[in-house]
Amino acid sequence: MNLKYLLVVLFVGLVSCNTATKLSKEAQIEYIAKGKEITQKSFKLLSGNLMKQMKQGGPVQAIPFCNVKAIPLTDEIAKQEYVSIKRVSKRFRNEINKPSSIELGVIEDYKVALENGEMLSPVLLSQPTGKPQFYAPILINSKCLVCHGTVGVEVSKATDSLIKSLYPKDLATGYKVGDLRGIWSVQF
Ligand code: HEC
Repeated sequence: MNLKYLLVVLFVGLVSCNTATKLSKEAQIEYIAKGKEITQKSFKLLSGNLMKQMKQGGPVQAIPFCNVKAIPLTDEIAKQEYVSIKRVSKRFRNEINKPSSIELGVIEDYKVALENGEMLSPVLLSQPTGKPQFYAPILINSKCLVCHGTVGVEVSKATDSLIKSLYPKDLATGYKVGDLRGIWSVQF
């Protein structure tokens, strides 16, 4: 299922009378705008803190920081906004960030869209409870490679050992700039 098709299905799903549906078109636009705002704010908070740690002490300091602080930082924003915020990935580092089957579907659709050179846009879906759920892609940029790039190239052997000591089942290396790293999943 490609993204365009998904969006049509979503839209039809949202305006017809199943679970989600009491949402008007205006409400959908509002939720998407809010989702974008929340995920941009979360990204800024995470990357700002991460870069500060990197400057101070490199990966040796930044990795344990992410290990302890990544989820509490996004939870802070979640609390302020009365939502739940997750970053999930098929190739997760922290098992907590393993995607649900619905999230996996969204990831697969983004992957196909990316392979076809399409623009990736946020998606609004409804949960079984009828509440709206927002998704947006997370892409790799050059700053991510020191911890998510290729081991022995951008990720040094020392960094890899540190990562493996905290995450023995790590799946989150081997990425290149522009790759889909995962998605934001925001539950309203
Ligand atoms: C200093 C090392 C470091 C850098 C740089 C870094 N990350 Fe990570 N990343 C981590 C660690 C450690 C975790 C696991 C966090 C946790 O335990 O909650 C993680 C987790 C994630 C996750 C959650 C999914 C998962 O695999 O658990 C995403 C998404 C992610 N990183 C994306 C990025 C992106 C995008 C960039 C660049 C903008 C980036 N990271 C830069 C170390 C890093």
